Amino acid sequence: MNCHRSDVPRVRDDARHHVPRVEPGQDGSGVGGLRCVICHRANNSTRSRIPGAIGWQQAPYSMSWDSLTAAEICDNLKDRSMNGDRGLYDLKGHFTHDHLVQWAWAAGPNRSRPTLAYDNFLARVANRVDTGGPCPKIAPTTDTQ
Ligand code: HEC
Repeated sequence: MNCHRSDVPRVRDDARHHVPRVEPGQDGSGVGGLRCVICHRANNSTRSRIPGAIGWQQAPYSMSWDSLTAAEICDNLKDRSMNGDRGLYDLKGHFTHDHLVQWAWAAGPNRSRPTLAYDNFLARVANRVDTGGPCPKIAPTTDTQ
């Protein structure tokens, strides 16, 4: 969730503000001289404890997830106007090969990982893609009056 924010980058499980304050800018990779890759290198740094992966940046604004339900995230993930013009098989490739996605499961010491193992995650992605990418639906609210 810290990678898919609608505002400035956050850190740790409590999503506290990033220090120093940095702006993602138009493309998510920083503003002016304060580009993300100046500090975030290709790998996690054991010395500085700065997390790292190739191409470190915040996801573009159209891909922000904070304040969305799981069903809304799923819908947005498939919306080509919001997802970088990716079809379902492109999304599968993104989840399988993108270094930033993979980093979530290799986040370095003292950072939590997704509870679902990466292999299981990829198996679920493959299953969703093979079945046409169904999204969970929100039950319609019933009028009690
Ligand atoms: C001046 C150095 C510096 C720059 C530039 C920088 N960061 Fe960071 N970043 C850090 C440090 C240090 C940490 C570790 C903070 C911590 O864990 O308490 C960090 C941690 C993070 C995390 C936390 C990951 C987690 O564990 O949840 C994210 C996300 C992040 N940075 C995104 C960005 C983005 C996006 C940019 C560019 C817009 C950026 N950073 C630019 C130094 C920097």
